[in-house]
Amino acid sequence: MKTFGHFDDSAREFVITEAATPWPWINYMGSGDFFSLISNTAGGYCFCKDAKFRRILRYRYNGVPMDAGGRYFYIKDGDTVWNPGWKPCKTALDSYECRHGMGYTRITGQKDGLKAETLFFVPLGQRCEIHRVRLTNTGSAAKKIQLYAFLEWCLWNASTDMENFQRNLSTGEVEIEPDAIYHKTEYRERRNHYAFYGVNRPFDGYDTDRETFLGMYNGFEAPQQVLAGTSGNSVAHGWSPVAAQRFDLSLEPGASEELVFVLGYAENPDDAKFTAPGVINKAPAREMMAAFATPAQVDAAFAALRSYWDDLLGRFTVTSDVPELDRTVNIWNQYQCMITFFMSRSASYFESGIGRGMGFRDSNQDLAGIVHMIPDRARQRILDIAATQFPDGGCYHQYQPLTKRGNNDIGGGFGDDPLWLIFGTVEYLKETGDFSILDEPVPFDNKPGSEKTLLEHLKISFRRVATNVGPHGLPLIGRADWNDCLNLNCFSNDPDESFQTTENVAGGKAESLMIAGLFVAEGRDFAELLDRLGDASAADVRAAVSSMEESVKKYGWDGEWFLRAYDFYGRKIGSSENAESKIFIESQGWCGMARIGAAEGLCDKALDSAVKYLECEHGMVLNTPAYSEFIPDYGEISSYPRGYKENGGIFCHNNPWVIIAEAMAGRADDVWRHYRKITPAFCTDQALRKVEPYVFCQMVAGAEAAKPGEGKNSWLTGTAAWTWKCVSEFILGIKPQYDGLLVEPCIPLKHGTYRVHRRFRDAEYELNIRYTGGKGSFFIPYKPGRQVLNIEL
Ligand code: GLC
Ligand code: GLC
Repeated sequence: MKTFGHFDDSAREFVITEAATPWPWINYMGSGDFFSLISNTAGGYCFCKDAKFRRILRYRYNGVPMDAGGRYFYIKDGDTVWNPGWKPCKTALDSYECRHGMGYTRITGQKDGLKAETLFFVPLGQRCEIHRVRLTNTGSAAKKIQLYAFLEWCLWNASTDMENFQRNLSTGEVEIEPDAIYHKTEYRERRNHYAFYGVNRPFDGYDTDRETFLGMYNGFEAPQQVLAGTSGNSVAHGWSPVAAQRFDLSLEPGASEELVFVLGYAENPDDAKFTAPGVINKAPAREMMAAFATPAQVDAAFAALRSYWDDLLGRFTVTSDVPELDRTVNIWNQYQCMITFFMSRSASYFESGIGRGMGFRDSNQDLAGIVHMIPDRARQRILDIAATQFPDGGCYHQYQPLTKRGNNDIGGGFGDDPLWLIFGTVEYLKETGDFSILDEPVPFDNKPGSEKTLLEHLKISFRRVATNVGPHGLPLIGRADWNDCLNLNCFSNDPDESFQTTENVAGGKAESLMIAGLFVAEGRDFAELLDRLGDASAADVRAAVSSMEESVKKYGWDGEWFLRAYDFYGRKIGSSENAESKIFIESQGWCGMARIGAAEGLCDKALDSAVKYLECEHGMVLNTPAYSEFIPDYGEISSYPRGYKENGGIFCHNNPWVIIAEAMAGRADDVWRHYRKITPAFCTDQALRKVEPYVFCQMVAGAEAAKPGEGKNSWLTGTAAWTWKCVSEFILGIKPQYDGLLVEPCIPLKHGTYRVHRRFRDAEYELNIRYTGGKGSFFIPYKPGRQVLNIEL
């Protein structure tokens, strides 16, 4: 089977050995408010704070070939022009390797006795990318070569950059110094920020006007200046500003040259924007460049980045007899959780960075993947999210990271949203024990003066769902529930409107069993929390939970599995009575996790049905048989071709719900089989999966698709946090509780002996676990300090 790369666990890297991957395989850089996407050929872009409003590099959507543009280094060696990352020239290299690591990427190419090693990273606490380029003459003759560094600026707003050409083609402005090119479009007016591309030595030539550098009729693969070995020394006025720098270098055999580039973003106070009329204040850029002027400074910043990740990833590690499990748990799953926390669903090679901001439900779920690593940031995120809520408990579905203000751009009124705030907060409290967050005053819709405590927000959230029930006593679905595409009140027939934002038909009574399960599970957690606080409203919460359980048992059970929903007219969805989509995954997962009707055997039956009907070679599909026709009554779900996305795709996010329910039911073999199917480290067919083999993707095409097993929408998916919760708490069985850790594994016996290192608040536990199939659990009361425990269950 053809492979394109492999894991290097000791370096925490994925090593790509074949540049022509089936799809660009990307990495992320940045951990504060400056972020970059970088492909295995150095394509991609960066932004500060907000992928839409503060875009620094231009990225082409739907470009052919795709992934065109990035940080490109061209080497002109005699008549040959090549790039260390193969693209864009695609000159055959003597060797190529890309190593995606934790927050950095190294790309090394060799050609004709010249080795070019590039290292890209975003230093901690800085708003810049560092590009370190080391050129070594590995041959026996002296070489005279030219190195070009090139990138193209985005005119800040990544959305209007792609559409408002009547303006954009006139606004571009730059300033040029001997060792730096400044991009200052719109700085003269309302912006107080600019970008720059500096280097730790003067360049021998430059270009800032794209067409002068490339040539009007050339692409990135054939810049006319590079082909000629020249520079146009062009000054961009409008059109498309770029930063191209030329270096003429001589290398004796064995000799190396090292250059350090800083691609930075700087802001100035309003009263210090200029140093002379029209001349931007470059002090912050100069300061940043000075911080990375020498290789030693770069090494130190890189070492700091590595220890940042050592610390984060050192909080939970497992040593088992399954290498795929260890690398997933110890490296890639946690890393992906961090990235989804940073990005929500805004910027990837599937999410454009201009369409979506931070999701209310998404960001709450993402907390489950990172709260053990960065609890302070989890705390702030919870408060930010809660501040976008409305006084009646309803929510904006997303907010823009730059402003932290909610918006309805991708719809509103989703029935499940409020409950996720309870989910996220409980995750935070169990990990940290920091109950003070509940007393924080939090506004509604960011309106000053409207503040109530976070605890009040949670109460309002719960009440919102408890009181918005339909004819069967089940939660109203609203716009949709977790499944954004189950739009039961929308009835759209107009291809020009979005299922997410078109006005819902009033008076809809459509109800969701997924929300019912979520309500019961979160309601129980909430009641437990209220008890701890000595809050008498716990009793009301419990009563609402029991009555919901009764409704589910009475109206939500189809005989072999849980129904999915009732539609606008009160008809069943996800029932054996339906012609298609007789069974859905979400309600089996959530009612199963809530253990509704467990005593009567409902959960086991529902899980049996999930295995029987939903499981296929690559995971469990969302619904089956998939809808074959568009049904306006159901909305977007039926708009997708069979086997894809929410219509019969393996929507990985919901697989761990079923897996967790299986673990709760003690079905270790099912747990393990299902977990392995969706976990990329276990997937051997890289060509079929197509997307990055080191991260979960949102969707793998299901059994009914034209190409089952093909992955899409990699990186930004709730799958990261949920598989993390699933593997750490339910497979390895380390469950954070308010007062300690509960150990309750569910793993096949042959893998039942493993070691977990777990930091928990101020405690550090070394757990030697031997799981022999016992149903019991082991509780470790929280106590600061280090403890070694041998646990046999
Ligand atoms: C996307 C959305 C998420 C939603 C899911 C299912 O991943 O980000 O909010 O729950 O699709 O529709
Ligand atoms: C579409 C997608 C869904 C996503 C939603 C976001 O409906 O199918 O996965 O959550 O868009 O608005």
